Amino acid sequence: MPKPQRTLLVTSALPYANGPIHLGHLVEYIQTDIWVRFQRLRGNHCTYVCADDAHGTPIMLRAEQDGVAPQALIDRVGTEHRNDFADFLIAFDNYYTTHSDENRHYATLIYQRLKNAGHISARTITQAYDPEKEMFLPDRFVKGDCPRCGSPDQYGDSCEVCGATYGPTDLGNPRSVITGATPVERESLHYFFNLADFEPMLREWINSGSIQQQMAHKLAEWFDSGLQQWDISRDAPYWGFEIPDAPGKYFYVWLDAPIGYMASFRNWADRHGADFDHYWRPDSPTELHHFIGKDIAYFHTLFWPAILEGAGFRKPTGVYCHGFLTVDGQKMSKSRGTFIMARSYLDHLRPEYLRYYFAAKLGSGIDDIDLNLEDFRQRVNSDLVGKVVNIASRCAGFIHKQFDGQLAGALPEPELYRGFVSAGENIAQAYEGREYARAMRDIMQLADQANQYIDEAKPWLLIKDPEHTAEVQGVCTQGLNLYRVLITYLAPVLPTVASDSAQFLGLDGLHWADIGQPLISHGIETFKPLMQRVDEHAIQAMVADSKQNLSPTAQPSTQTPAPEQRVEEQPIAEQIDFEVFARVDLRVARISRAEPVEGADKLLRLSLDLGGEKRTVFAGIKAAYDPADLEGRLTVVVANLAPRKMRFGVSDGMVLAAGPGGADIFLLSPDTGAEPGMKIK
Ligand code: MSP
Ligand code: ZN
Repeated sequence: MPKPQRTLLVTSALPYANGPIHLGHLVEYIQTDIWVRFQRLRGNHCTYVCADDAHGTPIMLRAEQDGVAPQALIDRVGTEHRNDFADFLIAFDNYYTTHSDENRHYATLIYQRLKNAGHISARTITQAYDPEKEMFLPDRFVKGDCPRCGSPDQYGDSCEVCGATYGPTDLGNPRSVITGATPVERESLHYFFNLADFEPMLREWINSGSIQQQMAHKLAEWFDSGLQQWDISRDAPYWGFEIPDAPGKYFYVWLDAPIGYMASFRNWADRHGADFDHYWRPDSPTELHHFIGKDIAYFHTLFWPAILEGAGFRKPTGVYCHGFLTVDGQKMSKSRGTFIMARSYLDHLRPEYLRYYFAAKLGSGIDDIDLNLEDFRQRVNSDLVGKVVNIASRCAGFIHKQFDGQLAGALPEPELYRGFVSAGENIAQAYEGREYARAMRDIMQLADQANQYIDEAKPWLLIKDPEHTAEVQGVCTQGLNLYRVLITYLAPVLPTVASDSAQFLGLDGLHWADIGQPLISHGIETFKPLMQRVDEHAIQAMVADSKQNLSPTAQPSTQTPAPEQRVEEQPIAEQIDFEVFARVDLRVARISRAEPVEGADKLLRLSLDLGGEKRTVFAGIKAAYDPADLEGRLTVVVANLAPRKMRFGVSDGMVLAAGPGGADIFLLSPDTGAEPGMKIK
């Protein structure tokens, strides 16, 4: 008896509308899309919505810097995101934006309901304020000297050199990242959501099986340190929705972002005659599933269910966190060319290669996953091209040439076929539980069996003997039927190969429920090659493109800081005019000595020779260089920087370096034609 159909609403996190989609993001959208396609293949009713996350300070400032209205920026980026996702075969039912009427409606409604129920309080807080720009500064928009180790140029929340965490008012020599002005402290009235009101409900919910065990443990730690009130308002100027009863106050981007899931669904529901309340009322019989990265768990497993409960809506059925992407075992790196944009990949490689590779690596946990480019090539070539697609190409030709495209009237090995069909329940369970790696392993084992069957039957030898012609039809009918089961199982991962296969098999489409019946006495269409091997040169070209692609818009953060630090995106550097730049005295210097600094993890002390003049400079480059390799080499130094007192001594100037950080910092100038002390023009 067929199982009753389920009705599901599924979401992926809403990407910020100020940068392009990269392969790290795609872990999430591919993971979700595979799950959604699997649900549909099983006959469930599944709607998949997403949107751009279009509000907040970084988007406001980015637009300002580009000299466009925020609306123009989010429209442009929105179009790019839609194209990238479409080309990666991500099958959203709706891709919307948080800057929409529907979202304003639900954000306002939810706020008012929370307020009426007593879950919102207001109080005055003190914050860093930029007197020139006349705006309050988020922590990441204040920089200065670390209060612990004295390293200059550290963000207002934590020190990248010694790891200290603090507030922006603790910094020495603080300045605004936007204007360079010294911030002042200023008071302002803020609105807070009383998360602690929901503690009993949350404790129950997180143990109800809605989130992963690992996350439930993590949350227990957050409970132990106490649930804090959540600041949901920001002062003008801010790019977002103004709070209705509080002129000059705006909803913080993270308040209206998850509400964007509802708004995107509402927009879709209105156009498709679906009933919004049926999905969102507290006793809804439908399921609600959110896929997110582990960096945004706090928002989705605490704030979001509490807000939904407080405002009289249903809570999520499941919130699933995934880990972060590394490439070749390391954090994605622009200088290595492994910070790969979705578009750079698509310019060289077929989306299904990556979909398969991610599937082959993804489990249900929150471990990071590694894209090893050589393993990627070999795995796709051996599994998809060598094992799966090969079955079809080995059998289809004979059926065409010898049997006029007609499959035999019976399977020679019905037991083998039944084995393939009955393996489906385990594979379905693996998909359902997001254990894609296990599903892929099971499917590849079946593919091995199918190839072994053909290898043993040897249709290419049988065909030479007229007495065995009928047998060849049987063997190839068996092979193509096994292929059809395999490609049905792989359809969530390989949508184009699946639809091309359905076409050549003479089927309207592939459905899990259909595979119980083999294709017998059935006509097939002409076979077209389904997938080519991954070309090594294509990978090299993609990496080369990614090295060139260091444009300033391409700067999404790849770090996974603690959730409380993830609240504002990386700010954009302040612009200076040429006059200011010309005042910087850049000179060539020879590094006469380089040595580690006791008590500082990342610093080297450099003794510099500027053509007679000696300087000592501290540089946070220990991870990138062995001191011995630096001695005797040339570098570029800002010679007229005011000396800075640090815990380890005075730093008299600053060496210039480029690179994303860590081991990738490039400091040295070529040794040809430059002399210490030489001015750089
Ligand atoms: N705008 C917020 C989400 C709001 S949801 C109501 C945001 N945007 S994001 O663009 O930074 O990230 C979107 C999703 O991509 C997040 O789930 C994030 O975890 C995921 N990833 C971003 N970089 C990633 C990797 N390098 N690796 C894996 N996932 C990554 O957060
Ligand atoms: Zn420090």
